[in-house]
Amino acid sequence: MELRFRNLIFKIAQGDITRFRSEAIVNAANKYLEHGGGVAYAIARAAAGNVREYIRISKEAMREQIGRDWIEHGEVVVTPALRLEQYGIKYVIHTVGPYCGGRWDEDKKEKLKKAILGALRKADELKVRSIAFPAISAGIYGCPLEEVVRTFLETVEKFSGEADNVREVYLVLYSSEDYERALKVLEVE
Ligand code: APR
Repeated sequence: MELRFRNLIFKIAQGDITRFRSEAIVNAANKYLEHGGGVAYAIARAAAGNVREYIRISKEAMREQIGRDWIEHGEVVVTPALRLEQYGIKYVIHTVGPYCGGRWDEDKKEKLKKAILGALRKADELKVRSIAFPAISAGIYGCPLEEVVRTFLETVEKFSGEADNVREVYLVLYSSEDYERALKVLEVE
């Protein structure tokens, strides 16, 4: 399923983002880049072979790129893809979505938009052509998947007006159930 916004294609896909063939993948991180569970743990393990090592690399990159030991919504940190380069992945872009715990409101939506837009802008700056996102905040952070998918649609459409290099944006759903739910959102929009 794909949508076109100006020069940009937005696609919903299903699979494991640690093997997804795009130049950049996004990590749904926490603000300290601890990579303790979910997709963050999976990316750290697949990239470095050792989660602690990737946490160390991420924290060092955060100090260099942000000058702090935490990031805010909208701020991103870039780390090398290491072993994921075998799939053509060059960069991992870490961003932080909102914590919802089942509740959704305008504030969560704004924070999620910032998190998505920060990663898209960084990818464009890195001259990346394709970027793949997990469903940020729709796992451990407990935001409703349908709202997350709608927020992706709106944010990618907005970004399409400023994109210089990014041409393909993927939202990669891990389970087939989530994939089906995400497709339904696109069908009615
Ligand atoms: N590929 C694609 N998607 C995945 C993968 C994978 N390998 N593993 C998990 N997911 C999906 C989940 O099914 C969920 O839909 O990623 C989505 C985001 O889930 P989480 O990883 O739980 O991220 P989030 O809800 O943003 O919570 C962030 O979790 O991992 C920790 O350090 C992270 O504390 C932070 C919190």
